[in-house]
Amino acid sequence: MIKIAVVGSSSMDLVVTSPKRPIAGETVLGDSFVTVPGGKGANQAVAAARLGAEVTMVGCVGDDFYGEIILENLKNNGVFTNFVEPVAGEASGTAHITLSEGDNSIIVVKGANDSITPDYVKKAMKIIEGSDIVLVQQEIPEETVEFLAELCEKLQKKLLLNPAPAREISELVIQRSSFITPNEHEFDILFKGRDRSEVLAEYPNKLFITEGKDGVRYFNGEQERVVPSFVVEAVDTTGAGDTFNAAFAVAVAEGKGFEECLLFANRAASISVTKFGAQGGMPTREEVEGSFNS
Ligand code: RIB
Repeated sequence: MIKIAVVGSSSMDLVVTSPKRPIAGETVLGDSFVTVPGGKGANQAVAAARLGAEVTMVGCVGDDFYGEIILENLKNNGVFTNFVEPVAGEASGTAHITLSEGDNSIIVVKGANDSITPDYVKKAMKIIEGSDIVLVQQEIPEETVEFLAELCEKLQKKLLLNPAPAREISELVIQRSSFITPNEHEFDILFKGRDRSEVLAEYPNKLFITEGKDGVRYFNGEQERVVPSFVVEAVDTTGAGDTFNAAFAVAVAEGKGFEECLLFANRAASISVTKFGAQGGMPTREEVEGSFNS
């Protein structure tokens, strides 16, 4: 079984559905309110575990009720939580999500996720050393991502950096990462609006731009490729990117070629949007493999 370490956020998603997204200064009446476990790190850990990987999460929760639920949910999904510690006096991370007009908008309050410092990650050194691939996102301190990139380079571990939410990243971190998976908006912030094809050619088999319904664009060393996504009836797109990243990491760790990895990841992501909640629709291995026959 392949081993994955996820260094990242775990949060509680506070989800409102509303027929209309309010503009500044406006109040609208919503339809429903639900709390479900989320956070990009925890989502990716759960997605990878459902796809059959042995996953250890390295993260922090608050010493509150949400923290207990987040931990319980990770365990129920088979994710190892020895390195998910409650932080005394701190609130769990929360994501305030509005689902409206066919899309989501999200405000994240990091809370305990800010306690995932380089020193904290050092405690999980053995786990990182023993992993086939490490996943990280950007809902944790920037210095931790930088530290992890340096560490993975030293240990010669594959690192998948999912640069979400977007912020500028140093060229050194990009060099040290094995894979970077921005969406179009994140790409523009990372590479300051440069031409996609030009940048892709500089990072063959490393930079994978997710373009939603259009699929994933990358440069394979010889030509630019777009691996298409699959058309489904979307209920909730929250967590689709996390499912994509986890599935891609699982497939890469299993030694599949990039085209196959991307097809697998696109399938998994397309299934994930058919149910409510970031983790609600994340598929099992059997569901993804079965979908290739349908
Ligand atoms: O990627 C989706 C996630 O982003 C949500 O679960 C929410 O927690 C936000 O962080």
